[in-house]
Amino acid sequence: MKKIITIVGARPQIIKAAAFSRAVKKWGDGKLQEVLVHSGQHYDEGMSQVFFNEMGIPAPAYNLAVGSGSHAVQTARIMEGLERVFLEEKPHAVLVYGDTNTTLAAAMVASKMFIPVVHIEAGLRSFNKRMPEEINRIATDHVSTLLFAPTQTAVDNLEREGFSTAENHAPTIDRPLVLRSGDVMYDNAIHFSNKPEGDAYLSGLGLEKERYAVATIHRDSNTDFPDRLNSILDALRQWSAENAMPVVLPTHPRLLKFLSESQQSELHAAGLLLVPPASYVQMIALLASSRLVLTDSGGLQKEAYFVQRPCVILRPETEWVELTKGGHAIVADADKNRILQAAHQLLNRTFESWPQLYGDGHAAEQICQFIIQYI
Ligand code: UD1
Repeated sequence: MKKIITIVGARPQIIKAAAFSRAVKKWGDGKLQEVLVHSGQHYDEGMSQVFFNEMGIPAPAYNLAVGSGSHAVQTARIMEGLERVFLEEKPHAVLVYGDTNTTLAAAMVASKMFIPVVHIEAGLRSFNKRMPEEINRIATDHVSTLLFAPTQTAVDNLEREGFSTAENHAPTIDRPLVLRSGDVMYDNAIHFSNKPEGDAYLSGLGLEKERYAVATIHRDSNTDFPDRLNSILDALRQWSAENAMPVVLPTHPRLLKFLSESQQSELHAAGLLLVPPASYVQMIALLASSRLVLTDSGGLQKEAYFVQRPCVILRPETEWVELTKGGHAIVADADKNRILQAAHQLLNRTFESWPQLYGDGHAAEQICQFIIQYI
């Protein structure tokens, strides 16, 4: 029996972990034991616990409770805590997701303790090193032993950085294995769609099907710069007024920190429905019945696509380039005019097809089987 430690910390990782834990339950019996560790990077009920409850994720065996802090402080606290856990647990491998400070911390500690790192969502690149996530993902990929790339673009990015994509060899940190796996987020979108709790959430908010937009803003590059934040909020206000539809805005705590109470009520009066962070089932339902999605979140861009909704990307670039290639999403940055133009363009277009870009909904099962085979 092999032991793998899965590290989560930020909201999207907890969500991704749900898919892998389901797969371990199905395929791991007698072969793979999963021990879950929460770094505590996200700690509010609505940013963490709600997903464990709703998505049936096993309770973490350890919670490092590191909380918020500067990049250095947060990463260092996670590293210290994880070293102790790895010494005690002696895992055969450590599984990390995505590109947060939790991901980076775990990858650095495990690799230096000679524990193979398994990276899910490997190979994503924005080519913008001013994003902390870009640094985190590059560093993590380069100390990983098993790299699961969700898309062909991700595989190509890794090849460009010198990774070999030859298969069928025993992987090591110096000769890692790159495998295209599909996206575990797609697995979850299928698993948690069309739930009655989702419908109840929409009617509780008084929303009519396809008569509202959904927006989220949480990147530090948007929230922490008043000019950019105001430009996005102005665009949302104008879109709402011109289309006579509300914009539902589930608020990440980082965004709320930058909005005074008077600003919040002013936005409310202008058609922006600020609501607490949504659970996963609520968010999928919200997206699926919306007219349009506007977001700076990487995860939400894809979730919009999974439920066949067009998306305006509130960032200067995206690592999910296949979304923009097909025209289903448009990059508009934080520029009011570009945002409004993109929204207009997307709403006046009918999309013939939404090709399956992110696998077949069984990515986590495939990943689990590869881990059993290779670790
Ligand atoms: C982190 C990830 C980002 C990911 C996002 C998902 C990094 C560098 N960034 O960004 O890639 O897209 O998670 O949500 O790891 N806060 C609370 N309660 C919480 C969590 C955060 O109030 O439960 C507030 C704190 O003021 C904190 C701020 O939000 O300082 C930012 O949190 P942090 O974990 O540093 O980064 P995120 O912006 O959430």
